[in-house]
Amino acid sequence: MTTILVTGSSRGIGAAIATALGTLADTTVLGHATHSGIAADLAQPDAAARLWAEALDRAGGVIDILVNNAGIFEPSPLEADDWSANWARTMQVNLTASAELCRLAVLHWQERGVGGRIVNIASRAAYRGDSPAHWHYAASKGGMVAMTKTIARGYAAQGILAFAVCPGFTMTGMADDYLASRGGDKLLADIPLGRVASPEEVAATVRFLCTDAPPSMTGAVLDINGASYVR
Ligand SMILES: NC(=O)c1ccc[n+]([C@@H]2O[C@H](COP(=O)([O-])OP(=O)(O)OC[C@H]3O[C@@H](n4cnc5c(N)ncnc54)[C@H](OP(=O)(O)O)[C@@H]3O)[C@@H](O)[C@H]2O)c1
Repeated sequence: MTTILVTGSSRGIGAAIATALGTLADTTVLGHATHSGIAADLAQPDAAARLWAEALDRAGGVIDILVNNAGIFEPSPLEADDWSANWARTMQVNLTASAELCRLAVLHWQERGVGGRIVNIASRAAYRGDSPAHWHYAASKGGMVAMTKTIARGYAAQGILAFAVCPGFTMTGMADDYLASRGGDKLLADIPLGRVASPEEVAATVRFLCTDAPPSMTGAVLDINGASYVR
């Protein structure tokens, strides 16, 4: 039996990931969100540790794969009085909580003397940057990519593999309204593929990384952005 913890699985990309992984044989998917699945608000400093402990408990003491997907994308214009607080909140949810879960996963696998896999959902913003209201978001995702590479290099010899996925604009939530609010046709004109990514495309990539991706791929960062940013 393989046990996979997926954070932020209540909706959007995380829900698609949980669905895709749920079709694997002999696999248990532990879902998480703020108020559903294993509930934990990752904006709270102690939440990642509590989530990991609860997940381990439900899994009978063994977790094989961690998918860090939970994240927030909240605008914070330079003029905002709470700019620093917004920075801290985005870093806490997107980067610090993910890092704490990665740390606990690595320690868990080292203690058991087994390998494991980590898949971190970063963003195109890690490489391309983001809007002036999203310094924090881009920085958190850039940090996630650097952390993933560090884990890959540090623990490959122990069979602990780490991958990052960088989606571009992905259609989650209120599709048409959301797209329109982001500039509609102009946004699509920037994507050579002519459309945004679907959560299922991201999920298929994550499923591959959790299962068939060869160990020599560890440290890889996979883009899913319709060639809107090619590096
Ligand atoms: N959609 C895109 O265009 C896009 C592009 C690049 C990267 N990404 C990344 O992909 C990931 C998923 O994005 P999405 O578009 O699917 O997001 P989404 O639809 O907004 O869903 C976010 C998920 O994260 C959870 N979450 C948010 N804040 C949380 C908190 N404080 N504590 C615990 N859980 C929390 C949410 O749980 P609740 O339901 O409980 O709030 C939800 O399950 C994120 O890391 C995002 O940065 C998305």
